Amino acid sequence: MDQDCLQALYRLSHTQALLALCNRSLARALDERALLQAFCTHLVEAGGYCFAWVGYAAHRGCGRVRLMAQAGPPDAAFAAEVFAACNARDCPSACRVACMGGQPVLLRDLSRPCDLAPWADAARRHGLRSMIALPLQVNGRPFGTFSLFADTPDAFDGQAVALLAELAEDLALGIQTLRARAAQAQEVCRLRIDAEREARGRLAASLHDGVGQTLQALTLGLKQARELARHQDPVPVELLDQLVAEAGDALRQVRAVTCELRPPFLDRVPLREAIRLYCSDIAQRAGGSIRFQADESPFALEDHVKEQCFLAFREALSNALRHAGASRIVVVLRVRPQDRLILAVLDDGVGFDTRQTFERPSGLGLSMIRERAQGVLGRARIRSAPGRGTQVRISVPLSREPAPCP
Ligand SMILES: Nc1ncnc2c1ncn2[C@@H]1O[C@H](COP(=O)(O)OP(=O)(O)OP(=O)(O)O)[C@@H](O)[C@H]1O
Ligand SMILES: [Mg+2]
Repeated sequence: MDQDCLQALYRLSHTQALLALCNRSLARALDERALLQAFCTHLVEAGGYCFAWVGYAAHRGCGRVRLMAQAGPPDAAFAAEVFAACNARDCPSACRVACMGGQPVLLRDLSRPCDLAPWADAARRHGLRSMIALPLQVNGRPFGTFSLFADTPDAFDGQAVALLAELAEDLALGIQTLRARAAQAQEVCRLRIDAEREARGRLAASLHDGVGQTLQALTLGLKQARELARHQDPVPVELLDQLVAEAGDALRQVRAVTCELRPPFLDRVPLREAIRLYCSDIAQRAGGSIRFQADESPFALEDHVKEQCFLAFREALSNALRHAGASRIVVVLRVRPQDRLILAVLDDGVGFDTRQTFERPSGLGLSMIRERAQGVLGRARIRSAPGRGTQVRISVPLSREPAPCP
């Protein structure tokens, strides 16, 4: 094998390793800055470039570039000189041109004077011989630059430029995905705050209009009874009956509110029974039928897991009743002994586009189902499509304790 062939093979294996590392970082990225840093580090450590950095356009039109991540600068003063050139008013440096213009800028030989490399003297002193500045862009709109320096002239041949342009594209896409995810998380957070505020408002209104009014009437009746007693007059039985009835009403109203907040029967009955009772109660109230299919084998669940399971199930069932227009709703409880409990709510209703709904959530229920399941180390799978019904499947780990029932 001749020298050229060997070198080509060596370059290929380097390129493959670099691509694998960058792809892994893209797949695992949770944080934008960490992703940028990982790309710079991979390009220096696995790609063999001397210095890599990423800058974002500070804001549209002002021409300034903000440093976001860097790896391998020969020294801090050189890095500062390169970034300063990007931000100097009348200086068309390579990085700035790529960032503003949306086209790669390639400087093949830094020993030749070039307007685009005001830092060329310092680069040469540090043994840097060529550089490329690639734009980062989304939908054809540049928002930053990805710049690399090499220690040989002409280090960026056609193949390398194509590969790096592809990496810059992947990086821009990765950034876009992370931002969309962050925006979605923010939207869910906003919805949750709104829902909490609304729930607090509902609670306050129901306490004020319900139990508040009843207690008010009770107080007036008691005052009347006290006046009678103070004057040694008999308190009529009708008045006492009325007071007892009002006290009973107040108690019922308080129970209704607390029941909505946390179903009290969960403490008394096993999960299977709680679900059975809830299904028959809500079916009666909604005037339809809900089929409950349950394994009868015993299982144990920790209290907080039981509560989260029930609340997730209640939301899935409420969605089926509110949104599906289904002719058939089935609730399934399966026990995989020593392993997991599976709880599913299936309907044959109108279904919905899950992707669209998760991207632009209109309510909180579905994300709460997922969060509740994840919060107890379980999973929730929501499958649906327009016209094809909906399946919500929650699976949670069973308790290891040998308790006979939940
Ligand atoms: N079983 C279902 N059948 C048809 N559409 C459904 C079903 N479950 C959910 N959806 C659709 O998904 C949307 C989001 O549901 P989600 O439970 O997150 O919010 P919501 O029920 O609208 O409001 P919230 O639960 O906050 O009171 C619903 O508005 C509805 O369009
Ligand atoms: Mg809902």
